[in-house]
Amino acid sequence: GFLKWTWRLTYLSAIGGTIYIGWGIYQGRTPPAQYDPDPSKKTLVVLGTGWGAVSLLKKLDTENYNVIVVSPRNYFLFTPLLPSCTTGTIEHRSIMEPIRSFLRHKKAAVKYYEAECTKIDYENKMIYINDESEIKGSTSATEVPFDMLVVGVGAENATFGIPGVREHGCFLKEVPDAQKIRKRIMDCVETATFKDQSPDEVKRLLHMVVVGGGPTGVEFAGELQDFFENDLRKWIPEISNNFHVTLVEALPNVLPMFSKNLIEYTEQTFKEETIDIRTKTMVKRVEEKYIEAEYTDASGKKVLEKIPYGLLVWATGNALKPVVKDLMSQIPAQKDSRRGLAVNEYLVVKGTENIWAVGDCAIANYAPTAQVASQEGAFLARLLNQMAKTDSIETELAELSNVQEKAASKDLRDEAFGKIKDLQKRLRRVKSIGPFEYSHQGSLAYIGSEKAVADISWLTGNLATGGQLTYFFWRSAYLSMCFSTRNRILVIMDWAKTQVFGRDVSRE
Ligand code: FAD
Ligand code: NAI
Repeated sequence: GFLKWTWRLTYLSAIGGTIYIGWGIYQGRTPPAQYDPDPSKKTLVVLGTGWGAVSLLKKLDTENYNVIVVSPRNYFLFTPLLPSCTTGTIEHRSIMEPIRSFLRHKKAAVKYYEAECTKIDYENKMIYINDESEIKGSTSATEVPFDMLVVGVGAENATFGIPGVREHGCFLKEVPDAQKIRKRIMDCVETATFKDQSPDEVKRLLHMVVVGGGPTGVEFAGELQDFFENDLRKWIPEISNNFHVTLVEALPNVLPMFSKNLIEYTEQTFKEETIDIRTKTMVKRVEEKYIEAEYTDASGKKVLEKIPYGLLVWATGNALKPVVKDLMSQIPAQKDSRRGLAVNEYLVVKGTENIWAVGDCAIANYAPTAQVASQEGAFLARLLNQMAKTDSIETELAELSNVQEKAASKDLRDEAFGKIKDLQKRLRRVKSIGPFEYSHQGSLAYIGSEKAVADISWLTGNLATGGQLTYFFWRSAYLSMCFSTRNRILVIMDWAKTQVFGRDVSRE
């Protein structure tokens, strides 16, 4: 009896699950009709299609504004899995979500321009945009006026003005970066095995150097070592003795935002994976075939060392985008802000009334992470929805006061008075939205050989764990955070493909 019921329940849940997923897919593919935007409403311009901007757009009631989105990238990118794209563990399209299909599901239509905002003119409430793509029409540069503006353009890669970084290094921020790295890894390997290559050159070509021991550098180093252990050395055994990954970090340890025991665990795991960690080593110059790094030797003397490399991945954190820097220069209240747009507790750019900033370009005393950006975006959506409600209630109130004044009888006056009282109550409720408060869910990072580290905030305090179990947690957490069901299914399929067939070592 018990077994029969278990079977029945399993059967029913499988049918239920299939119907649920099927319905989700059907809805995703058949967007309903959309309202046209109302021209009498305010124009809200959103810059960017990253974590901050998209989480805002997800929750924004677009029928309240004329919404215009401007971004050079017509897709959302799930950055936490980008390091996996550099080795083909995951294909990049699996973590991209087209902004077009997403916006097509909003209640009121949203305009999207694939362009880069080159200047924000704060005084004249105008942005200037450029089509930076390969194909240009008769217009490729124009301007867009706004009433309200949300800046979510993210950040640039920091180079600290170190010469040679842009020319010779690879960054890891966007899809083309991951594609470039994937190609270069294979190019280095194939060139190293070219006929009559000198032993020194083979060593150099197979030396993969990662600069920056933050989570980007650590995750990439782990993925690269996995690629070598699981695939490369199998298909190209002659590189086995020379393929080597080195992580260079200026500070005394990697992953400074994690707990001490997880830092130790990561460093120990890297040792076992034979990834070299060079801490307290600061890169000063980058040449085509080597970097120059400074470290302090045992006697306390500063030594400048040349480290030859085949592939150089530069992951030393964020810097300001020029468009943000320019905006800051127009606003006196931003004079003392260095790292980004200073915002108040409602994410309003300080010194302005109609500009908000979310994510990596905003400085609100939190780390520049996807977690922060998405919470800020969701908060701002709530705020903007409330503001629209406030506006409409205030208009209604003005009309009712008029009615009350001009009412012919006491009954009509009382009726209007009653309505005004109700509306005033509603207005107070709507206006009572509190300031933005970030709730930290924890930090997670993959460190290679199917191990991850996690600093998680529980009700009871903090939990710091590392290892294989954490790796399964890492996988399920990131899977659940993926943008759509489609992304989730594609990522699962990529993981399964890598498990069964291994990673693809073709160079394209
Ligand atoms: P972004 O997501 O970078 O989006 C910026 C958007 O603005 C893009 O759409 C861009 O095309 C657009 N844009 C750029 N310039 C302009 C312009 N001039 N005009 C208009 N639009 C413009 N955080 C975590 O919390 N967990 C993680 O596991 C994690 N992993 C990461 C892994 C990698 C490899 C990287 C690079 C970052 C990772 N982060 C992670 C950090 C996280 O991705 C960022 O903090 C987050 O993307 C910031 O969101 P954002 O909206 O500010 O910027
Ligand atoms: P980061 O700012 O976290 O780390 C950069 C590291 O580079 C620093 O430790 C710095 O000391 C080092 N560095 C700087 N200049 C150097 C030099 N010349 N030579 C040697 N080392 C040098 O940058 P990262 O990793 O790119 O991350 C950016 C943001 O994205 C962070 O806020 C991070 O938390 C977030 N992120 C989060 C992830 C996660 O939670 N799993 C994954 C990736 C990024």
